Amino acid sequence: MSKAPAANIESHLKENRVFKPAKEFSAKAHIKSLAHYKKLWTESVKQPEKFWKKQAEAELIWQKPFTKVLQWKEPFAKWFTGGKLNVSANCLDRWLDSATANKAALIWEGEPATDGKPGEERVLTYKQLHREVCRFANVLKRNGISKGDRVIIYLPMVPEAAIAMLACTRIGAVHSVVFGGFSAQSVADRIQDCGAKMVITSDGGYRRGAVVPLKKNVDEALKLHDAAGQSLTQTIEKVIVLRRCANEVHMAEHRDVWWHRELDYVSDVCPAEKLDSEAPLFILYTSGSTGKPKGILHSTAGYLLGTKLTSKYVFDLRAEDVYWCTADVGWVTGHSYIVYGPLANGATALMYEGAPNWPEPDRFWRIIQKYGVTILYTAPTAIRAFMKWGDEWPKKHDLSSLRLLGSVGEPINPEAWMWYHNVIGGGRCPIVDTWWQTETGSIMITPLPGATPTKPGTATLPFFGILPEVVDDQGKPVPKNTGGKLVVRQPWPSMLRGIWGDNERYKQTYWTEVKGSYFTGDGCRQDKDGYFWIVGRIDDVLNVAGHRIGTAEVESALVSHPSVAEAAVVGRPDELKGQALVCFVTLKTGVKATPELKNELRNHIGKEIGPVAKPDEVRFAEALPKTRSGKIMRRLLKQIASGMEIKGDTTTLEDISVIAKLASGEE
Ligand code: PRX
Repeated sequence: MSKAPAANIESHLKENRVFKPAKEFSAKAHIKSLAHYKKLWTESVKQPEKFWKKQAEAELIWQKPFTKVLQWKEPFAKWFTGGKLNVSANCLDRWLDSATANKAALIWEGEPATDGKPGEERVLTYKQLHREVCRFANVLKRNGISKGDRVIIYLPMVPEAAIAMLACTRIGAVHSVVFGGFSAQSVADRIQDCGAKMVITSDGGYRRGAVVPLKKNVDEALKLHDAAGQSLTQTIEKVIVLRRCANEVHMAEHRDVWWHRELDYVSDVCPAEKLDSEAPLFILYTSGSTGKPKGILHSTAGYLLGTKLTSKYVFDLRAEDVYWCTADVGWVTGHSYIVYGPLANGATALMYEGAPNWPEPDRFWRIIQKYGVTILYTAPTAIRAFMKWGDEWPKKHDLSSLRLLGSVGEPINPEAWMWYHNVIGGGRCPIVDTWWQTETGSIMITPLPGATPTKPGTATLPFFGILPEVVDDQGKPVPKNTGGKLVVRQPWPSMLRGIWGDNERYKQTYWTEVKGSYFTGDGCRQDKDGYFWIVGRIDDVLNVAGHRIGTAEVESALVSHPSVAEAAVVGRPDELKGQALVCFVTLKTGVKATPELKNELRNHIGKEIGPVAKPDEVRFAEALPKTRSGKIMRRLLKQIASGMEIKGDTTTLEDISVIAKLASGEE
């Protein structure tokens, strides 16, 4: 893992604009002033156990009360031990005796058909969603799934994705959602890593009018072997297939069953299993700085509390809101802020199946007008794309229903922030720029919209109970306006419980860099007001269009190609995606460097990891610049990739002519 020393972290952004919450907004908000936020936050971090106990008792429905708030044996936390509860009961059953029962839980908008017909719509009330979840939980049981079993969910953005997740939680099965844009190989690797017993998939999913053949990918995944000829997926017993696109699929006898057929055999009564607070809830794979994705493990009570509280306060949720998070359920944002957080609050969440520019770049704005969306939570990369497509698209639609905007996934550049504020928010909607990670489970640093004055480009201040700090290599806090490493000083309920099957990697990755603290991997500075400005990752992880991609993962995909001898992958700044992937590749002797091969390598990465990881540029090189001890000098490659003049010390470089050739683009 190569990590930059804290002293190298610089933040050049100077931004002086401040936007205070409007009086009318604050008056109705859960938290109405900065002073109130500060008082509550200070109390929450001074006596965290007292704070979290009160919240857990007030917000969650317990089947059995907990006896201890926190057991902390660094780096392993156990929250709310002794307690029993069920996530699906907290999201669904709890609303059944109230007016919320007949309110829309999920509003789903399908991708418009290629012939220009509008997308399908479906609305599921809390009562209906509850019924579907109970039925599908019975389907899971009928197909051999019980408490603790791992289930892979590989579905498009359809309500059944949420139903499948909630059904798992109802019976205590551990779900691992795999983003529909990942390849068969990625599905197989995840099955193998978590020893999954079942895959839930669909025949296909729509994307820009085309059908993504999900079931076919699963079939392929289930045939894959490792180098020793061992099946990667022998733990799989059943595949449940949802019919979505009616494309032709092969159904293996005894293994594959149709979702809709299975429903005929089950009742709609399924009591919610009483689960321990620390029962594993889900595993979600994310890139790290070494080759293999990490199975981030979250557990029941703490995660639910984190997502519920943050949804309520950060989005300032009210009963009448129509809330739309545009993330895919395959990412943590979709888990926490489409499914668990909003439903635990009895909110109405919108879910859209397709792409933002299909069939035209006004798709989002059309949906906002159609459903009267009040809260929009999206990513800077999408905002930058909308800016590029032009103001005429949002201007065609009535966006006056919006009252709050959110941003997540990467630092939002002030220009995009201002555009979001003015063009989408009509100058009246607060923007919550929320910093968090797959590992943190829920939002950690964020404005509270009725309380926190915002500045374009900063996630501002910590959420209740969260104690982040910017430190140097020794773990000492750095002065204001100095770059350093972002750490979290105290455990919090929705923190990851580990990396599936790899406690050592968990310790190494998060708890050794800065003694006694959780290390986020991000560089940061605090300004004079204590606002946190995230500079970006300081390890070998890139943020491409809001997706975390480990350079080592792409490198290992490249060297698995028979023509490749060596590869180094770096990021270069990209106007739309934040960062773009650039691969430097040396070929095996005798292999010809051709444009076709470049294309083949891009596709190879697509096959190994998924289309999300396809690089923007592949460059062939005779050799890669290395230090005398053989380390690839990524710093130099980054400069070359972004066309910068080569700076800094090159005296340790093995062969200086290598650089000259790379920089001149000679191949
Ligand atoms: O580098 C930070 C960036 O995204 C990383 C986490 O990625 P992931 O686990 O995929 O989760 C994304 C959705 C929560 C962080 O380490 N990041 C996320 N949100 C922000 C951000 N960087 C700056 N500002 C943000 N608001």
